[in-house]
Amino acid sequence: MVGHDELHAAHAHRFDHLVTDRAVHREVYVDPAVFDAELKRIFGRVWVYVAHESQLRQPGDFVTSWIGRQPVIVTHGGQQQPRVLMNRCTHRAATVCQERSGHATHFRCAYHGWNFRNDGTLVSPTFGSGYDLEDFRVEDFSLGQAPRVDSYRGFVFASLAQSGPTLAEHLGNARTYIDLFCDLSPTGEIEVGEAGTNRYGYPGNWKLQAENGVDGYHPNFVHQAFLDNGRGGLAMQLFHGESVGRAADLGRGHALLDSRPTLGEIHERSFRSTPGGQAHYEQLVDRLGAERAAEVIRTNGGQGFNLLVFPNLQLIQIQIRVIHPRRVDLTEVDLYPTLLAGAAEQTNAARLRSHEGFYGPAGGGAPGDLEMFRRVQEGLAVESVEWLPLLRGLRRTELGPNGELIGHVTDEHPQRAFYRRWAEEMAA
Ligand code: FES
Ligand SMILES: [Fe+2]
Repeated sequence: MVGHDELHAAHAHRFDHLVTDRAVHREVYVDPAVFDAELKRIFGRVWVYVAHESQLRQPGDFVTSWIGRQPVIVTHGGQQQPRVLMNRCTHRAATVCQERSGHATHFRCAYHGWNFRNDGTLVSPTFGSGYDLEDFRVEDFSLGQAPRVDSYRGFVFASLAQSGPTLAEHLGNARTYIDLFCDLSPTGEIEVGEAGTNRYGYPGNWKLQAENGVDGYHPNFVHQAFLDNGRGGLAMQLFHGESVGRAADLGRGHALLDSRPTLGEIHERSFRSTPGGQAHYEQLVDRLGAERAAEVIRTNGGQGFNLLVFPNLQLIQIQIRVIHPRRVDLTEVDLYPTLLAGAAEQTNAARLRSHEGFYGPAGGGAPGDLEMFRRVQEGLAVESVEWLPLLRGLRRTELGPNGELIGHVTDEHPQRAFYRRWAEEMAA
Protein backbone atom coordinates (compact mmCIF):
# COMPACT_ATOMS: atom_id res chain seq x y z
CA MET A 1 0.00 0.00 0.00
CA VAL A 2 1.22 3.43 -0.85
CA GLY A 3 0.85 5.68 2.18
CA HIS A 4 -0.88 9.03 1.96
CA ASP A 5 2.39 10.91 2.20
CA GLU A 6 4.00 8.96 -0.62
CA LEU A 7 0.90 9.42 -2.72
CA HIS A 8 0.98 13.11 -2.10
CA ALA A 9 4.70 13.21 -2.85
CA ALA A 10 4.13 11.36 -6.14
CA HIS A 11 1.34 13.75 -7.02
CA ALA A 12 3.40 16.74 -6.01
CA HIS A 13 5.62 16.13 -9.02
CA ARG A 14 2.63 15.93 -11.36
CA PHE A 15 0.39 18.74 -10.11
CA ASP A 16 -2.56 17.62 -12.26
CA HIS A 17 -4.41 16.64 -9.09
CA LEU A 18 -4.72 20.38 -8.40
CA VAL A 19 -7.24 20.76 -11.21
CA THR A 20 -10.52 18.99 -11.94
CA ASP A 21 -13.17 19.81 -14.51
CA ARG A 22 -15.07 21.50 -11.68
CA ALA A 23 -12.47 23.41 -9.69
CA VAL A 24 -8.90 24.67 -9.38
CA HIS A 25 -6.86 24.38 -6.18
CA ARG A 26 -5.37 27.56 -4.70
CA GLU A 27 -1.84 26.13 -4.89
CA VAL A 28 -2.06 26.51 -8.66
CA TYR A 29 -1.73 30.26 -8.10
CA VAL A 30 0.48 30.50 -5.03
CA ASP A 31 2.91 27.57 -4.91
CA PRO A 32 6.38 28.45 -6.26
CA ALA A 33 6.92 24.74 -7.06
CA VAL A 34 3.90 24.83 -9.38
CA PHE A 35 5.26 27.97 -11.00
CA ASP A 36 8.69 26.41 -11.57
CA ALA A 37 7.07 23.33 -13.07
CA GLU A 38 4.93 25.50 -15.37
CA LEU A 39 8.03 27.18 -16.73
CA LYS A 40 9.56 23.80 -17.58
CA ARG A 41 6.55 21.74 -18.64
CA ILE A 42 4.42 24.38 -20.33
CA PHE A 43 6.65 27.25 -21.42
CA GLY A 44 9.65 24.96 -21.88
CA ARG A 45 7.79 22.76 -24.37
CA VAL A 46 4.68 24.14 -26.05
CA TRP A 47 4.55 26.64 -28.93
CA VAL A 48 4.82 30.14 -27.49
CA TYR A 49 4.13 33.34 -29.45
CA VAL A 50 7.27 35.49 -29.74
CA ALA A 51 6.78 38.11 -32.46
CA HIS A 52 4.79 39.27 -35.45
CA GLU A 53 6.39 39.19 -38.89
CA SER A 54 5.48 42.82 -39.52
CA GLN A 55 8.06 43.71 -36.84
CA LEU A 56 10.76 41.93 -38.85
CA ARG A 57 10.52 43.36 -42.35
CA GLN A 58 14.20 43.96 -43.14
CA PRO A 59 17.27 41.82 -42.54
CA GLY A 60 18.65 43.11 -39.22
CA ASP A 61 15.25 43.88 -37.69
CA PHE A 62 14.77 42.33 -34.27
CA VAL A 63 12.38 42.26 -31.34
CA THR A 64 12.90 40.89 -27.85
CA SER A 65 10.47 38.84 -25.80
CA TRP A 66 10.41 35.88 -23.42
CA ILE A 67 9.53 32.22 -23.58
CA GLY A 68 8.32 31.82 -20.04
CA ARG A 69 11.03 33.71 -18.19
CA GLN A 70 13.75 32.96 -20.74
CA PRO A 71 14.67 36.13 -22.64
CA VAL A 72 14.87 35.78 -26.42
CA ILE A 73 15.78 37.95 -29.39
CA VAL A 74 13.77 37.28 -32.53
CA THR A 75 15.72 38.29 -35.62
CA HIS A 76 14.91 38.42 -39.32
CA GLY A 77 15.94 35.08 -40.76
CA GLY A 78 16.73 36.10 -44.34
CA GLN A 79 14.99 33.57 -46.60
CA GLN A 80 14.20 31.34 -43.60
CA GLN A 81 11.83 31.61 -40.65
CA PRO A 82 12.89 34.22 -38.09
CA ARG A 83 15.60 33.08 -35.69
CA VAL A 84 14.79 32.92 -32.00
CA LEU A 85 18.09 33.49 -30.20
CA MET A 86 18.44 33.03 -26.47
CA ASN A 87 19.25 36.45 -25.04
CA ARG A 88 22.09 35.11 -22.89
CA CYS A 89 25.75 35.81 -23.46
CA THR A 90 27.72 32.57 -23.77
CA HIS A 91 30.41 34.05 -21.49
CA ARG A 92 28.98 34.97 -18.08
CA ALA A 93 25.30 34.85 -19.10
CA ALA A 94 24.39 38.55 -19.29
CA THR A 95 21.58 39.47 -21.66
CA VAL A 96 23.15 40.88 -24.83
CA CYS A 97 20.21 43.00 -26.00
CA GLN A 98 18.19 45.37 -23.84
CA GLU A 99 16.00 47.00 -26.50
CA ARG A 100 12.42 45.97 -27.16
CA SER A 101 12.93 46.24 -30.89
CA GLY A 102 15.32 47.72 -33.40
CA HIS A 103 17.75 47.08 -36.21
CA ALA A 104 21.22 45.65 -35.64
CA THR A 105 23.85 43.61 -37.46
CA HIS A 106 25.44 42.63 -34.13
CA PHE A 107 24.59 42.28 -30.45
CA ARG A 108 27.50 43.29 -28.26
CA CYS A 109 27.48 42.15 -24.65
CA ALA A 110 28.17 45.10 -22.38
CA TYR A 111 29.90 43.05 -19.69
CA HIS A 112 33.17 41.90 -21.32
CA GLY A 113 32.47 43.01 -24.84
CA TRP A 114 31.80 39.74 -26.68
CA ASN A 115 30.17 40.55 -29.99
CA PHE A 116 27.60 38.33 -31.70
CA ARG A 117 26.29 38.57 -35.25
CA ASN A 118 22.51 38.72 -35.59
CA ASP A 119 22.52 35.05 -36.64
CA GLY A 120 23.86 34.28 -33.14
CA THR A 121 27.46 33.44 -34.05
CA LEU A 122 30.27 34.93 -31.95
CA VAL A 123 32.67 37.15 -33.91
CA SER A 124 35.55 36.62 -31.50
CA PRO A 125 36.19 36.95 -27.78
CA THR A 126 37.64 40.29 -26.69
CA PHE A 127 41.38 40.40 -25.81
CA GLY A 128 41.65 37.15 -27.75
CA SER A 129 45.28 36.48 -26.92
CA GLY A 130 44.13 35.30 -23.49
CA TYR A 131 42.38 32.30 -25.04
CA ASP A 132 44.22 29.23 -26.18
CA LEU A 133 42.70 27.73 -29.32
CA GLU A 134 43.02 24.30 -27.75
CA ASP A 135 40.43 25.32 -25.17
CA PHE A 136 38.35 27.80 -27.06
CA ARG A 137 36.66 27.33 -30.41
CA VAL A 138 34.61 30.37 -31.44
CA GLU A 139 31.96 28.20 -33.06
CA ASP A 140 31.17 26.59 -29.70
CA PHE A 141 30.05 29.93 -28.29
CA SER A 142 27.17 30.98 -30.52
CA LEU A 143 24.03 32.24 -28.77
CA GLY A 144 21.56 29.48 -28.04
CA GLN A 145 18.57 29.13 -30.37
CA ALA A 146 15.04 27.81 -30.02
CA PRO A 147 15.07 24.48 -31.87
CA ARG A 148 11.68 25.01 -33.52
CA VAL A 149 10.25 28.20 -35.01
CA ASP A 150 7.18 28.41 -37.20
CA SER A 151 4.58 31.00 -38.09
CA TYR A 152 0.91 31.22 -38.94
CA ARG A 153 -0.59 34.26 -40.71
CA GLY A 154 2.41 36.35 -39.58
CA PHE A 155 2.27 35.18 -35.94
CA VAL A 156 5.70 33.76 -35.07
CA PHE A 157 5.88 30.99 -32.46
CA ALA A 158 8.82 29.12 -30.99
CA SER A 159 9.10 25.88 -29.07
CA LEU A 160 12.02 24.98 -26.83
CA ALA A 161 11.29 21.27 -27.37
CA GLN A 162 13.19 19.44 -30.12
CA SER A 163 10.04 17.59 -31.14
CA GLY A 164 6.32 17.58 -30.49
CA PRO A 165 3.10 18.60 -32.23
CA THR A 166 3.47 20.93 -35.21
CA LEU A 167 2.35 24.54 -34.84
CA ALA A 168 -0.69 23.81 -37.01
CA GLU A 169 -1.62 20.89 -34.75
CA HIS A 170 -1.11 23.04 -31.67
CA LEU A 171 -3.29 25.88 -32.97
CA GLY A 172 -6.12 23.58 -34.11
CA ASN A 173 -9.47 25.40 -34.02
CA ALA A 174 -7.81 28.66 -32.94
CA ARG A 175 -6.70 29.13 -36.57
CA THR A 176 -10.27 29.97 -37.60
CA TYR A 177 -10.17 33.05 -35.38
CA ILE A 178 -6.62 34.07 -36.26
CA ASP A 179 -7.84 33.98 -39.88
CA LEU A 180 -10.83 36.19 -39.07
CA PHE A 181 -8.58 38.59 -37.15
CA CYS A 182 -6.28 39.00 -40.18
CA ASP A 183 -8.86 38.75 -42.96
CA LEU A 184 -10.50 42.00 -41.87
CA SER A 185 -7.50 43.72 -43.44
CA PRO A 186 -8.03 44.67 -47.10
CA THR A 187 -4.75 42.89 -47.89
CA GLY A 188 -5.19 40.09 -45.37
CA GLU A 189 -2.28 41.37 -43.32
CA ILE A 190 -2.15 43.09 -39.99
CA GLU A 191 0.70 45.25 -38.76
CA VAL A 192 2.33 45.59 -35.38
CA GLY A 193 4.92 48.18 -34.63
CA GLU A 194 3.90 51.61 -35.84
CA ALA A 195 1.16 51.67 -33.24
CA GLY A 196 3.46 51.13 -30.25
CA THR A 197 2.93 48.86 -27.27
CA ASN A 198 1.38 49.05 -23.82
CA ARG A 199 3.10 47.05 -21.10
CA TYR A 200 1.59 46.68 -17.66
CA GLY A 201 2.23 44.50 -14.64
CA TYR A 202 0.27 43.26 -11.67
CA PRO A 203 1.01 41.52 -8.38
CA GLY A 204 -0.71 38.26 -9.23
CA ASN A 205 -0.29 34.93 -11.00
CA TRP A 206 -0.04 34.86 -14.81
CA LYS A 207 -3.04 32.57 -15.18
CA LEU A 208 -5.37 35.22 -13.72
CA GLN A 209 -4.91 37.22 -16.92
CA ALA A 210 -5.16 34.10 -19.08
CA GLU A 211 -8.54 33.26 -17.49
CA ASN A 212 -9.80 36.81 -17.47
CA GLY A 213 -9.31 37.58 -21.18
CA VAL A 214 -11.99 34.98 -21.95
CA ASP A 215 -14.15 35.56 -18.86
CA GLY A 216 -17.57 36.80 -19.95
CA TYR A 217 -18.92 36.71 -16.42
CA HIS A 218 -17.05 39.72 -15.02
CA PRO A 219 -17.44 42.65 -17.48
CA ASN A 220 -20.86 43.82 -16.30
CA PHE A 221 -19.45 44.10 -12.80
CA VAL A 222 -15.83 45.20 -13.16
CA HIS A 223 -16.46 47.31 -16.27
CA GLN A 224 -20.00 48.50 -15.54
CA ALA A 225 -19.04 52.17 -15.47
CA PHE A 226 -17.44 51.88 -18.92
CA LEU A 227 -20.03 49.67 -20.57
CA ASP A 228 -23.05 51.52 -19.24
CA ASN A 229 -21.70 54.99 -19.75
CA GLY A 230 -23.91 56.76 -22.30
CA ARG A 231 -24.04 53.75 -24.61
CA GLY A 232 -27.74 53.17 -24.34
CA GLY A 233 -27.26 49.86 -22.63
CA LEU A 234 -26.14 47.94 -25.74
CA ALA A 235 -22.68 47.22 -24.33
CA MET A 236 -24.33 45.89 -21.18
CA GLN A 237 -26.09 43.28 -23.36
CA LEU A 238 -22.81 41.71 -24.45
CA PHE A 239 -22.03 39.93 -21.20
CA HIS A 240 -25.39 39.90 -19.48
CA GLY A 241 -26.86 36.80 -17.86
CA GLU A 242 -29.48 36.81 -20.64
CA SER A 243 -27.06 37.74 -23.44
CA VAL A 244 -27.17 35.80 -26.70
CA GLY A 245 -23.35 35.70 -26.73
CA ARG A 246 -21.49 32.40 -26.56
CA ALA A 247 -18.36 31.02 -24.94
CA ALA A 248 -16.44 28.03 -26.22
CA ASP A 249 -13.81 25.49 -25.33
CA LEU A 250 -12.02 25.17 -28.69
CA GLY A 251 -9.91 22.20 -27.62
CA ARG A 252 -6.15 22.02 -26.81
CA GLY A 253 -6.57 24.68 -24.12
CA HIS A 254 -7.74 27.38 -26.52
CA ALA A 255 -10.95 29.25 -25.78
CA LEU A 256 -13.32 31.85 -27.15
CA LEU A 257 -15.85 34.46 -26.13
CA ASP A 258 -18.10 34.99 -29.13
CA SER A 259 -19.89 38.35 -29.33
CA ARG A 260 -21.08 37.86 -32.92
CA PRO A 261 -24.61 36.85 -31.92
CA THR A 262 -24.95 40.27 -30.24
CA LEU A 263 -22.85 42.47 -32.52
CA GLY A 264 -22.78 40.72 -35.91
CA GLU A 265 -25.81 42.48 -37.37
CA ILE A 266 -24.62 45.85 -36.11
CA HIS A 267 -21.26 45.34 -37.77
CA GLU A 268 -23.01 44.31 -40.99
CA ARG A 269 -25.22 47.38 -40.98
CA SER A 270 -22.59 49.96 -40.08
CA PHE A 271 -19.37 48.75 -41.74
CA ARG A 272 -19.86 50.30 -45.18
CA SER A 273 -21.01 53.67 -43.84
CA THR A 274 -17.83 54.27 -41.83
CA PRO A 275 -15.22 56.52 -43.52
CA GLY A 276 -13.50 54.40 -46.14
CA GLY A 277 -15.89 51.54 -45.37
CA GLN A 278 -17.30 51.11 -48.89
CA ALA A 279 -13.86 50.86 -50.53
CA HIS A 280 -12.74 48.51 -47.75
CA TYR A 281 -15.79 46.34 -48.35
CA GLU A 282 -15.08 46.14 -52.08
CA GLN A 283 -11.47 45.13 -51.46
CA LEU A 284 -12.65 42.37 -49.13
CA VAL A 285 -15.10 41.08 -51.73
CA ASP A 286 -12.36 41.16 -54.40
CA ARG A 287 -9.97 39.23 -52.23
CA LEU A 288 -12.29 36.84 -50.41
CA GLY A 289 -15.55 36.63 -52.36
CA ALA A 290 -18.87 37.99 -51.13
CA GLU A 291 -19.72 35.18 -48.74
CA ARG A 292 -16.44 35.20 -46.83
CA ALA A 293 -16.37 39.02 -46.87
CA ALA A 294 -19.78 39.04 -45.18
CA GLU A 295 -18.52 36.66 -42.48
CA VAL A 296 -15.41 38.78 -41.95
CA ILE A 297 -17.46 41.97 -41.63
CA ARG A 298 -19.95 40.32 -39.28
CA THR A 299 -17.02 39.34 -37.09
CA ASN A 300 -15.17 42.65 -37.55
CA GLY A 301 -11.83 41.19 -36.47
CA GLY A 302 -11.36 40.93 -32.74
CA GLN A 303 -14.39 43.15 -32.14
CA GLY A 304 -16.43 39.98 -32.58
CA PHE A 305 -14.56 37.70 -30.21
CA ASN A 306 -11.94 37.25 -27.50
CA LEU A 307 -9.53 34.40 -28.30
CA LEU A 308 -7.18 32.67 -25.88
CA VAL A 309 -4.40 30.62 -27.46
CA PHE A 310 -2.84 28.36 -24.82
CA PRO A 311 -0.84 29.24 -22.88
CA ASN A 312 -0.31 33.00 -23.02
CA LEU A 313 -1.56 34.63 -26.24
CA GLN A 314 -4.85 36.48 -26.63
CA LEU A 315 -6.47 38.28 -29.56
CA ILE A 316 -8.99 40.78 -28.24
CA GLN A 317 -10.50 43.77 -30.07
CA ILE A 318 -7.54 45.05 -32.14
CA GLN A 319 -4.77 43.78 -29.89
CA ILE A 320 -2.31 40.94 -29.68
CA ARG A 321 -1.88 40.36 -25.95
CA VAL A 322 1.05 38.40 -24.55
CA ILE A 323 1.23 37.36 -20.90
CA HIS A 324 4.67 37.01 -19.32
CA PRO A 325 5.01 35.08 -16.04
CA ARG A 326 7.63 36.69 -13.80
CA ARG A 327 7.14 35.11 -10.38
CA VAL A 328 4.33 33.04 -8.97
CA ASP A 329 2.68 36.29 -7.89
CA LEU A 330 4.02 38.75 -10.45
CA THR A 331 3.08 39.10 -14.11
CA GLU A 332 3.77 41.46 -16.99
CA VAL A 333 1.54 41.83 -20.01
CA ASP A 334 2.29 43.33 -23.42
CA LEU A 335 -0.53 44.69 -25.57
CA TYR A 336 0.29 45.24 -29.22
CA PRO A 337 -2.49 47.18 -30.96
CA THR A 338 -2.62 46.11 -34.59
CA LEU A 339 -3.35 48.12 -37.72
CA LEU A 340 -4.97 46.80 -40.87
CA ALA A 341 -2.50 46.95 -43.76
CA GLY A 342 -3.99 48.87 -46.68
CA ALA A 343 -6.99 50.24 -44.74
CA ALA A 344 -7.98 53.92 -44.68
CA GLU A 345 -6.16 56.08 -42.19
CA GLN A 346 -9.44 56.88 -40.44
CA THR A 347 -10.12 53.17 -40.01
CA ASN A 348 -6.81 52.55 -38.29
CA ALA A 349 -7.11 55.74 -36.23
CA ALA A 350 -10.54 54.67 -35.03
CA ARG A 351 -9.11 51.26 -34.07
CA LEU A 352 -6.41 52.91 -31.98
CA ARG A 353 -8.79 55.32 -30.26
CA SER A 354 -11.10 52.45 -29.26
CA HIS A 355 -8.10 50.49 -27.96
CA GLU A 356 -6.89 53.41 -25.86
CA GLY A 357 -10.37 54.02 -24.47
CA PHE A 358 -10.52 50.64 -22.79
CA TYR A 359 -6.92 49.40 -22.54
CA GLY A 360 -4.80 52.54 -22.24
CA PRO A 361 -3.08 53.44 -18.96
CA ALA A 362 -6.03 55.71 -18.13
CA GLY A 363 -8.49 53.52 -20.05
CA GLY A 364 -11.92 52.61 -18.82
CA GLY A 365 -11.32 48.86 -18.70
CA ALA A 366 -7.97 47.22 -18.09
CA PRO A 367 -7.14 48.96 -14.78
CA GLY A 368 -10.24 47.41 -13.21
CA ASP A 369 -9.12 43.92 -14.15
CA LEU A 370 -5.69 44.52 -12.63
CA GLU A 371 -7.29 45.53 -9.33
CA MET A 372 -9.30 42.29 -9.39
CA PHE A 373 -6.11 40.24 -9.94
CA ARG A 374 -4.52 41.99 -6.96
CA ARG A 375 -7.56 41.20 -4.83
CA VAL A 376 -7.64 37.56 -5.94
CA GLN A 377 -3.97 37.05 -5.16
CA GLU A 378 -4.48 38.59 -1.72
CA GLY A 379 -7.55 36.43 -1.08
CA LEU A 380 -5.64 33.31 -2.12
CA ALA A 381 -3.52 33.70 1.00
CA VAL A 382 -6.49 32.23 2.90
CA GLU A 383 -5.51 28.60 3.33
CA SER A 384 -8.65 27.13 4.89
CA VAL A 385 -10.67 27.55 1.68
CA GLU A 386 -8.73 25.54 -0.86
CA TRP A 387 -10.72 25.27 -4.08
CA LEU A 388 -11.93 27.82 -6.65
CA PRO A 389 -15.05 26.44 -8.36
CA LEU A 390 -15.51 26.32 -12.15
CA LEU A 391 -19.12 25.17 -12.10
CA ARG A 392 -20.85 27.84 -14.13
CA GLY A 393 -22.63 26.38 -17.16
CA LEU A 394 -21.23 22.92 -16.51
CA ARG A 395 -24.46 21.32 -17.69
CA ARG A 396 -25.43 23.65 -20.51
CA THR A 397 -23.04 22.60 -23.26
CA GLU A 398 -23.51 22.07 -26.97
CA LEU A 399 -21.07 20.31 -29.23
CA GLY A 400 -19.86 22.46 -32.13
CA PRO A 401 -19.06 21.19 -35.64
CA ASN A 402 -15.33 21.02 -34.89
CA GLY A 403 -15.64 19.42 -31.48
CA GLU A 404 -15.94 22.72 -29.61
CA LEU A 405 -17.84 22.74 -26.33
CA ILE A 406 -20.10 25.77 -26.57
CA GLY A 407 -22.13 27.46 -23.88
CA HIS A 408 -23.41 30.80 -22.69
CA VAL A 409 -21.02 33.75 -22.88
CA THR A 410 -20.95 34.03 -19.07
CA ASP A 411 -20.20 30.31 -18.60
CA GLU A 412 -16.84 28.92 -17.54
CA HIS A 413 -16.13 26.73 -20.56
CA PRO A 414 -13.07 28.83 -21.47
CA GLN A 415 -11.53 28.40 -18.03
CA ARG A 416 -12.26 24.67 -17.97
CA ALA A 417 -10.64 24.43 -21.42
CA PHE A 418 -7.49 26.18 -20.24
CA TYR A 419 -7.11 24.08 -17.10
CA ARG A 420 -7.76 20.79 -18.86
CA ARG A 421 -4.78 21.44 -21.12
CA TRP A 422 -2.81 22.83 -18.17
CA ALA A 423 -3.31 19.58 -16.26
CA GLU A 424 -2.30 17.50 -19.31
CA GLU A 425 0.95 19.38 -19.72
CA MET A 426 1.72 19.39 -16.01
CA ALA A 427 1.17 15.64 -15.74
CA ALA A 428 3.25 14.69 -18.75
S1 FES B 1 29.08 38.17 -19.87
FE1 FES B 1 29.03 38.71 -21.93
S2 FES B 1 31.07 39.14 -22.40
FE2 FES B 1 31.18 38.49 -20.35
FE1 LIG C 1 -12.02 42.73 -17.96
